[in-house]
Amino acid sequence: MLKIAPSVLSADFGGLAEAVGEVTAEADWLHIDVMDGHFVPNLTIGPPVVASLRRHSGLFFDCHLMMTDPGAYLEAFRQAGADGCTVHVEVGDTVALLDRAKGLGLRAGLAINPETPYEAIDPYLAAADLILCMTVHPGFGGQSFMAEVLPKIARTRAELDARGLAAELEVDGGIDEETAPLVVAAGARVLVAGSAVFGADRPWDAARRIRLAGEKALPGAPVDL
Ligand code: DX5
Ligand code: ZN
Repeated sequence: MLKIAPSVLSADFGGLAEAVGEVTAEADWLHIDVMDGHFVPNLTIGPPVVASLRRHSGLFFDCHLMMTDPGAYLEAFRQAGADGCTVHVEVGDTVALLDRAKGLGLRAGLAINPETPYEAIDPYLAAADLILCMTVHPGFGGQSFMAEVLPKIARTRAELDARGLAAELEVDGGIDEETAPLVVAAGARVLVAGSAVFGADRPWDAARRIRLAGEKALPGAPVDL
């Protein structure tokens, strides 16, 4: 029912393959943060690193493109082994970018920043395979969860359900055992977690605990007495 997507942003970049191996048993997807130094003030991973990781992991690669011009790189990420690519609604050209991603055989995601209102993504719910609600300002791991995004997550869930759309609803930023139940109760079903997983002594166990905490907030989950 829930997917856990550890974010390698908080892993040791000097030993990425090993870090991924440490979470694989408890990970549904691997979240890969791509930053271009322009859309966000940080630089991270490009297609060559994705291609290298691909040789070490069979996980679904969920690439989050925090880039001003993601369209120029979708094909390169696909060739490198990406399974899904998520572009930001704030960069515009949304229909063309989602179409391009789908045409390449990618799961096409659409991300929305905390301060961007729900209305920005409303026209694209049917075109996207995944909606990613950022729960921190993108750019860095280890930031605090922004609870003010919860109503937008709930609104997105309500609209997807009302329209019978199957797009996945993902959240990213400040997700841990404490915040997982909040986002799941609001309707999120894919939880990205970076520092809470890779900053833990036993990353796989941290991912497992986040999943268990989130599952308790699923509709119909048994109530703890
Ligand atoms: C932030 C990234 C996140 C980041 C989350 O810009 O998109 O994926 O890794 O890190 P935590 O879980 O530490 O907030
Ligand atoms: Zn991300």
